[in-house]
Amino acid sequence: GNPIFDEKGKIERIIIASRDITETTKLKTELREIKKITNQYKQELDTFKSKNKVFEKLIYCSSKMERVVEQINKISNFSSTVLISGESGVGKEVIAQAIHQLGSRSNQPFLKLNCGAIPENLLESELFGYTQGSFTGADKNGKVGYFKKADQGILFLDEIGEMPLSLQVKLLRVLQEQEVIPIGSTTPIPINVQIVAATNKRLEKMVEEGTFRED
Ligand SMILES: Nc1ncnc2c1ncn2[C@@H]1O[C@H](COP(=O)(O)OP(=O)(O)OP(=O)(O)O)[C@@H](O)[C@H]1O
Ligand SMILES: [Mg+2]
Repeated sequence: GNPIFDEKGKIERIIIASRDITETTKLKTELREIKKITNQYKQELDTFKSKNKVFEKLIYCSSKMERVVEQINKISNFSSTVLISGESGVGKEVIAQAIHQLGSRSNQPFLKLNCGAIPENLLESELFGYTQGSFTGADKNGKVGYFKKADQGILFLDEIGEMPLSLQVKLLRVLQEQEVIPIGSTTPIPINVQIVAATNKRLEKMVEEGTFRED
């Protein structure tokens, strides 16, 4: 509205311009809805594309492998702990990577730690990390462990059968409590990591022999 004054400065009239914006508002709402739907489609398409990439790499033809792939598809929608077992060279690592790429954590880290390749005493500090000056020879600034580094993502524990019993207990705690206590610390750090483990050992037999914890 604009006031119009006469010579004496008194308001003579007010000119009001009005216009119906119902249509504009309606169009705006529609546009917003359509943008939302487009984004949804884009995301679905991206997921579809990345799924295809995974399956391009994976070569198989047996019905047994088909069942494994079906299982990977199912598993990848959840963040549960996964154990992949099978003979050496059957592609356990390929499967672990597929679980990562197909799942909701694909934009988060995928870290691999080979439990058989690292000496027992180092394995604990690699996994859990340590605080400043917790033992001789340690980095004086402390160290972030793999569990923390893989936060929000996946930690692939390869050759889990090689993990010493003492560490198995600690791993169990991490799985149950979703938290880690670095060496030299008393404060647990909450973590959100999906554990995927692999082994070519027969864990059932190891459990019977008492070298691998049943739980
Ligand atoms: N189904 C598959 N499609 C394509 N490549 C595969 C498949 N399975 C295995 N490979 C390839 O074979 C090699 C061995 O696979 P991988 O390292 O995953 O075996 P593994 O089960 O982890 O063996 P190990 O127990 O010795 O660690 C890798 O180079 C991997 O890319
Ligand atoms: Mg392997």
